[in-house]
Amino acid sequence: MTDTARADATNPTAAHTTDLDPFNPPAQDVRYELMAEMRETCPVASFSEGRWYAATHEGVLTGLKNVDKFVGSFIDTSKLPEDEVPISAIPEPQHGKIRRVINGVLAPHRTMHADSFIYELAHSLLDEAFGSEAVAGGTESAANETEAVAVRFDLVKEYVDPIPSTVIAHVLGVPTEDFNRFRRWSDELLENMNTQLAGEPLTLSQTHPEFAAYIQHHIDIRRAAPEPPDDLIGRFIAADIDGEPLSDAMIRTQAINLIIAGNETTRNWLGNFFATLAQSPDLYGEVRAHPEIRETFMEESLRRDCPVQIVARAAMEDTVIENRHIPVGDQVVFGIASANRDEKVFQNPAEFDFARPDLKKHLAFGAGPHICPGATLARLEARIALEVFCEKIASFEVAPNYEFQYNPVFWALGLRSLPVNCVKAIYPE
Ligand code: HEM
Repeated sequence: MTDTARADATNPTAAHTTDLDPFNPPAQDVRYELMAEMRETCPVASFSEGRWYAATHEGVLTGLKNVDKFVGSFIDTSKLPEDEVPISAIPEPQHGKIRRVINGVLAPHRTMHADSFIYELAHSLLDEAFGSEAVAGGTESAANETEAVAVRFDLVKEYVDPIPSTVIAHVLGVPTEDFNRFRRWSDELLENMNTQLAGEPLTLSQTHPEFAAYIQHHIDIRRAAPEPPDDLIGRFIAADIDGEPLSDAMIRTQAINLIIAGNETTRNWLGNFFATLAQSPDLYGEVRAHPEIRETFMEESLRRDCPVQIVARAAMEDTVIENRHIPVGDQVVFGIASANRDEKVFQNPAEFDFARPDLKKHLAFGAGPHICPGATLARLEARIALEVFCEKIASFEVAPNYEFQYNPVFWALGLRSLPVNCVKAIYPE
């Protein structure tokens, strides 16, 4: 660190810039280097006129909790109809009211019932990927595994990607055969959001009328039913805010937002931890042999390879964060990925170490009133996806010559594909 940078770090009026544009991030190695530089020299740095990046754990945590000073979205939602603003961009106290509805809709005692569906799904996806019928259950034996057969398939495309979109279709109460549409529509919506960063903001229904019409159709069915089912859309219909039922526009907006929020994120998480295991046979052996370490393994993956890299907020008033003065109206991007690699909280942060003492401090699901309401469902999906994989796959590795390719979503980190060679576990009779 230069003396100038050191002096600037304590001077709130000095101009600080970073080459890290979070809306157009460079390759991971460069990205993480720039984040580390910021954490050391200037915890809050400007990346363009009126736009700041907060890089430390303390700065990100403080900003995310301070919902009175920072209200958030990547795009300016102030001109959108009130009922069509996604929950992440709604200011308090209205956010709290809608959040209670969403918490109820996604309550663990309801979504945890999805576990048997997820087990069945995970088994059938792997069986299909293997192109053969299911192997009988039981405990695998190391000796028998030497007789196993190797198969190649794309772990991300054939196993990981279908899980979150099928599960969300299931909990939403729409036909699970529609998961392919959800996946495609989510991708299309996210692509459109990329282009909206610079252009006129649109509602989710305007951005993707086909998706909106589909959800509206399912709202209509439930409104017409004498006894609407207890599924996600049915629960939105049964809910109220201050005694008033939710409008169709609001249900549509929040349901579409849930689908996108749960889809891109969870599949990226699963893909990232399977990629870590595919590159380390010893680690896979350990995780496979010791179910009790799987949870911390998956949390460490969330920390180090953070699926949601950033969240954005607008300053509602002049404010100071990490000694940096932020004028009202400026945008602050809170670098969750950088916070999760802050060496003040996590020693040797680039290393994968699931014995670290402060792992629970990672911010992969956010913090404060907007903290992810889908975390329990995402963890359930991840746990089952890993458990079923460990049961069925004795060992696996990345296919030779594969070069890692990442999804082109600026706020996310996740693989587009992961071809692997797998050795199937053979079970005793
Ligand atoms: C690994 C998976 C996931 C990750 C890493 C993740 C991450 C996050 C993060 C960082 C936020 C905070 C955003 C902010 O502060 O603006 C958030 C919010 C949210 N997430 Fe997740 N999420 C995941 C899965 C899910 C799932 C499965 C669902 C729903 C089924 C979901 C629904 C939401 C919603 C609705 C919000 C907005 C909450 C609010 O603004 O009050 N997420 N998520």
